[in-house]
Amino acid sequence: MSDLRIRPARAADTDTLTKLIKSAYRGSDSRAGWTSEADLVEGERISTDQVEAMISEGGSLLLAGEQDGQLVACCQVRNQGAGLAYFGTFAVSPTAQGGGIGRQLMAEAERQAVTAFNARRLEMTVLAQQDKLIAYYERRGFARTGETRPFPADSRYARPRRDDLYFVVLVKDLA
Ligand SMILES: CC(C)(COP(=O)(O)OP(=O)(O)OC[C@H]1O[C@@H](n2cnc3c(N)ncnc32)[C@H](O)[C@@H]1OP(=O)(O)O)[C@@H](O)C(=O)NCCC(=O)NCCS
Repeated sequence: MSDLRIRPARAADTDTLTKLIKSAYRGSDSRAGWTSEADLVEGERISTDQVEAMISEGGSLLLAGEQDGQLVACCQVRNQGAGLAYFGTFAVSPTAQGGGIGRQLMAEAERQAVTAFNARRLEMTVLAQQDKLIAYYERRGFARTGETRPFPADSRYARPRRDDLYFVVLVKDLA
């Protein structure tokens, strides 16, 4: 297997990345990964229009990870201004998870947050019930801020399967 190549996503990647994100987060395909939220949430997660906007809008950088000529991962870095960037839409193809692709992509996202947006802090939100994911981010230097936010952010793309879901906000100081 070849090394991971990380590059900005292009408009031509929109459909493939939309499918990849959906399969990583929810539905039966996601159960092949280690963080599936299939038991917590139903719904589409994201639309092609949203992915297209992440690729084309100013202040947004959608990074794509390619291996052996196939798109296997993505994440978004969004400029929030005043030295803050948001990290999200972090997805690795379920069958490719657990091999270090996520770690490499996140490291590049942190570099890009600094170089592209002058960020000093990187913020993200995670479902409070996703203990294994929160531990993963804590091992990478993120810390809980104590802030919580309502879930879902947009009810068109998520139907909670239980009524106690909410986001916790994590932040990492970037060197
Ligand atoms: C989160 C995600 C992007 C990580 O990508 P990945 O390629 O699996 O990540 P890596 O291979 O770099 O790291 C895997 C980590 O999970 C750990 N891990 C693997 N299997 C695990 C399991 N069953 N339980 C707990 N941890 C596990 C590994 O130990 C490793 O952590 P470490 O590097 O600190 O030791 C990927 O799992 C994913 O796409 N998930 C679905 C979408 C999602 O939930 N995104 C995040 C929303 S906040």
